[in-house]
Amino acid sequence: MTPPTAAITPPVAKLFRSSPTDAAFQVCIEPTCRATYAVDQTLTSCTACGSLLDIGYDWNRIRVPGSMRWFEQRWSRRNQPLDFSGVWRFRELFPFAPEESIVTIGEGQTILQNSAAVASYVGVQQGNLFLQYEGLNPSGSFKDNGMTAAATHARMVGAHVAACASTGNTSASLAIYASSTKAFRTVVFIGSGKIAFGKLSQALDYDACTVQIMGDFDDALARVREVSSERGIYLCNSVNPFRLEGQKSIMYRVLEGLGWEVPDWIVVPGGNLGNSSSFGKALAELKQLGLIDRIPRLAVINAHGANTLQQLYNDHHVRWNNGNVPLETINRFYAEMDLNSRRADTIASAIEINRPVNLMKCLRALETCDGVVRDVHDQEILDAKAQVGAGGFGCEPASAASVAGARLLRAQGVIAPSDRVVCILTGHQLKDPDATVAYHSGNRDMFESKLARRGVTETPFRNMPQGVENDLGKILELLARLD
Ligand code: F0G
Repeated sequence: MTPPTAAITPPVAKLFRSSPTDAAFQVCIEPTCRATYAVDQTLTSCTACGSLLDIGYDWNRIRVPGSMRWFEQRWSRRNQPLDFSGVWRFRELFPFAPEESIVTIGEGQTILQNSAAVASYVGVQQGNLFLQYEGLNPSGSFKDNGMTAAATHARMVGAHVAACASTGNTSASLAIYASSTKAFRTVVFIGSGKIAFGKLSQALDYDACTVQIMGDFDDALARVREVSSERGIYLCNSVNPFRLEGQKSIMYRVLEGLGWEVPDWIVVPGGNLGNSSSFGKALAELKQLGLIDRIPRLAVINAHGANTLQQLYNDHHVRWNNGNVPLETINRFYAEMDLNSRRADTIASAIEINRPVNLMKCLRALETCDGVVRDVHDQEILDAKAQVGAGGFGCEPASAASVAGARLLRAQGVIAPSDRVVCILTGHQLKDPDATVAYHSGNRDMFESKLARRGVTETPFRNMPQGVENDLGKILELLARLD
């Protein structure tokens, strides 16, 4: 089967008569390999060369709407689960599943908000800074966009048990799909002491079998890959190419929120680099299909304590370069990391990852989107997080890396004040209450144990609770002082 080459945009009336699965396939991302596999195979890498897989489409055989506005008609059919889903109402842009196999829990009801407060903080003109609140998903993070697609594929292949390694959000997401659909049972692997309590509580409450590995996320992922292949368990980490197909919908909703106009920048935190990879794929496909006229620039933001991508991209100049990635540079980098026993360490535990599995796809996305990579310190992450909270719905620390990164890029003159910037807020504020309380409360012990040891020295946007005696007069006195 040949990979897609050209777009066709037939009239809307003729859409979607044939089975959509016919023209979808799995394909190796390595340009010299390009081995293809059927969509009903369960793979997490190319069996010929070991590279990552994409889901490819023969767009010439798929009926795709002629304009993104076509999708608006679905807003009026909110009683239909597939049209209600903020992921599946765009299903013509990732048509790998027959409709009867789709597993949805109403994910993707997320919003793009213009934020005046964050625009001032970042330093762009009023009206130009947008926050995409992916924390509004059922499990509280962007992961549900991808998990609905993985769960769908798991159902297509008849999986009984699904597993993942996680810094917390993937496990919460997988667990909620298992508990609410009963489509399969779930095992989640997490690093010991490496998960925010909000996320751990979700996996436990959603009744997932939760395995705590003595190690970090990188260890947990290595083990779950072995366990899955040993036991034939369906793997739901972002090496699963179907997951990334669902995550493309974040880009569609961003465009929708902007009235289908393309912004200048998409800024996203980088951990395992699944999101950035899928954004690049989504945007390349939309451009290829003639559904957008230009591709926005992509900024991927690492935490400084987990900055493999930043180092490889900026210090070692590693690029996709049509698939000619200098593997020896990357291997040398990892060998040195192991030699020095360097482990990821950041308050943004969601992106505390030193071996991002989607590195190659992310490099490709950076090429597609004329991208940049930066890293930000935990101090900048927490200050940005406090600004997001004070000016909107709030987010967890990893998400705030996008805002801190946008601010850095603005200060460096890479982002212009007149640019329209979208920061992806990947996870809900309540995911990691400890980090928030440690920043705001003034509790010395919490500050020392969680923040100071990671180089955080100040809390300029602290909002401390005011202690007062249980006495009306004293309370009124206090409130008068606050006026
Ligand atoms: N933000 C949040 C809130 C996350 O949970 C993650 C990843 C990221 C950003 C990074 O996204 O991996 O696509 O670059 N969390 C994974 C997990 C690793 O296990 O929940 P990425």
